[in-house]
Amino acid sequence: MKVTVVGAGAVGASCAEYIAMKNFCSEVVLVDIKEGFAEGKAMDLMQTASLNGFDTKITGTTGDYSKTAGSQIAVITSGIPRKPGMTREELIGINAGIVKEVTSNLVQHSPDVIIIVVSNPMDTMAYLVHKTSGLPKNRIIGMGGALDSARFKYRLAEAMGCPSSDVDGMVIAAHSDTGMVPLMSKATRNGVPATAFLSEEQQNSVVEATKVGGATLTKLLGTSAWYAPGAAVSVIVQAIACDQKKMIPCSVMLEGEYGQSDICLGVPCIIGANGIEKIVEIELTEAEKEKFATAANAVREVNGDLKNL
Ligand code: LAC
Repeated sequence: MKVTVVGAGAVGASCAEYIAMKNFCSEVVLVDIKEGFAEGKAMDLMQTASLNGFDTKITGTTGDYSKTAGSQIAVITSGIPRKPGMTREELIGINAGIVKEVTSNLVQHSPDVIIIVVSNPMDTMAYLVHKTSGLPKNRIIGMGGALDSARFKYRLAEAMGCPSSDVDGMVIAAHSDTGMVPLMSKATRNGVPATAFLSEEQQNSVVEATKVGGATLTKLLGTSAWYAPGAAVSVIVQAIACDQKKMIPCSVMLEGEYGQSDICLGVPCIIGANGIEKIVEIELTEAEKEKFATAANAVREVNGDLKNL
């Protein structure tokens, strides 16, 4: 299994690191436009192989996409990250052009590739990849829901005073500060509804902290986060590489599911060797349905901006 990661910045390098550490891929190719940067990150990571005990070969290239040829999976992390106080949506102007060009280079050298989109605004970038690549919808996956669900579980565990591994929960809808819908009604601690452990006030604060999870980190770090985004990508890559049929909330092109069409939004998906193998339609509460529809309207508006670029 050969995986390409475009963008060797903090998020891209974390993706490569976590994928390599889990030892299920033969090769990871890092690509960056900054001269020597991907090569340097790849060499540094390769020097951890004997220390961390992995056999994945990591290489780097400055924009030579011929080195990515035959990749089964490609991860697009390229573009600019947000600065404190910025929304993900404000990045569209610069990132749309970059994502479009990267997608075309990737597909040219790896026509069978499954693309995982990380660049922001993520739902709109996944939509852009759909509109420009000609790839079938099962081969375009926006990773936001996987990350946001991990952040939800972190906040649930914190509020319940238990390990995150005891917690289950999903975030659907948009990967944005206002459009995320953490499904408190479905969250559990060892199979017991989380609502049995948390007051309404605690539930609301978990939901609010989850929605601004990325913004909180951007404020603390001065740029956007990388460990959890990298780990979230590695889970999706492994689900594909190992044909796990794992249910992960991902941004996917909807064709009537959840009452939406011609839009990429986060919904629970079964991820296996063919990428998105199934969209799982779960029962939402009336309030969740309403929030999902509001998020869809906001993302549709941002998608509309693509025409003006
Ligand atoms: C975040 C970025 C990756 O939420 O969107 O950290």
